[in-house]
Amino acid sequence: MNHHKLVVGNWKMNPGSVAEAKKLVSRIKKASAKLSNTEVVICPPLPFIVPCTRRRKPVGMFMGAQTVSWETESGPHTGEVSVMMLRDLGVEYIIVGHSEQRKRGDTDETVSRRLKAILESGLTPILCIGEALRDESGAYLESLKNQIKASCANVSHKDAKRIVIAYEPIWAIGAAEAMKAEDVYETSLFVKKVFSDLFGADAGLKVKVLYGGSVTFRNAHDIMAIGKVDGLLVGRESVNAPGFIELIKVVDDVK
Ligand code: PGA
Repeated sequence: MNHHKLVVGNWKMNPGSVAEAKKLVSRIKKASAKLSNTEVVICPPLPFIVPCTRRRKPVGMFMGAQTVSWETESGPHTGEVSVMMLRDLGVEYIIVGHSEQRKRGDTDETVSRRLKAILESGLTPILCIGEALRDESGAYLESLKNQIKASCANVSHKDAKRIVIAYEPIWAIGAAEAMKAEDVYETSLFVKKVFSDLFGADAGLKVKVLYGGSVTFRNAHDIMAIGKVDGLLVGRESVNAPGFIELIKVVDDVK
């Protein structure tokens, strides 16, 4: 079992040029090599994956993509990129079901198809889930459960252990503040429980749960230590080199 903590940098549609992307990746690569029990995944925009890839595989840093087609055979799918194409480039992780993709039309059904394609290829999916609103009565827990169930509809017990779940409350993405670390703890436990109900206790124990939504180097420690998550999915701070480098060091130092 891999006990490493995981920090995923979702660059979204940033930075604006290849030159900037290359500068950013070389700084992150150097810092990642010094970590002792944290792995870093960077997910640049598609055209930057090749320029950001090193001939010699970096230590502690992996390449990820922000989405992928559910189509697995080459063919007439304009604008789409397959899992095999990404794998060929050295991509090892793929984010799936990010709320910004769901907003643009992705549904639990299409997410489940993408997830299946990723698992079949042997790559690691980072499945994003999260409620739009938090209500007093706890209805959001039911909606999280349904999201996990529907997104994982095609997943076998064996494959379930390879999924990384990124819990990202939508209201905390791109916000001024992250979710409270105590609430992160409660919800990540709930996610693990749902996972073990669906796929067995072993899967519930093994599944990595990350938190995402307004994570910075300042709040990373408490979210890890009090929230007791296995890692973080980072948006804005992941394209700010000094902040992200500090963040991965902070995460690595969390006992
Ligand atoms: P943020 O984005 O860190 O900028 O809030 C997180 C995400 O969308 O993955």
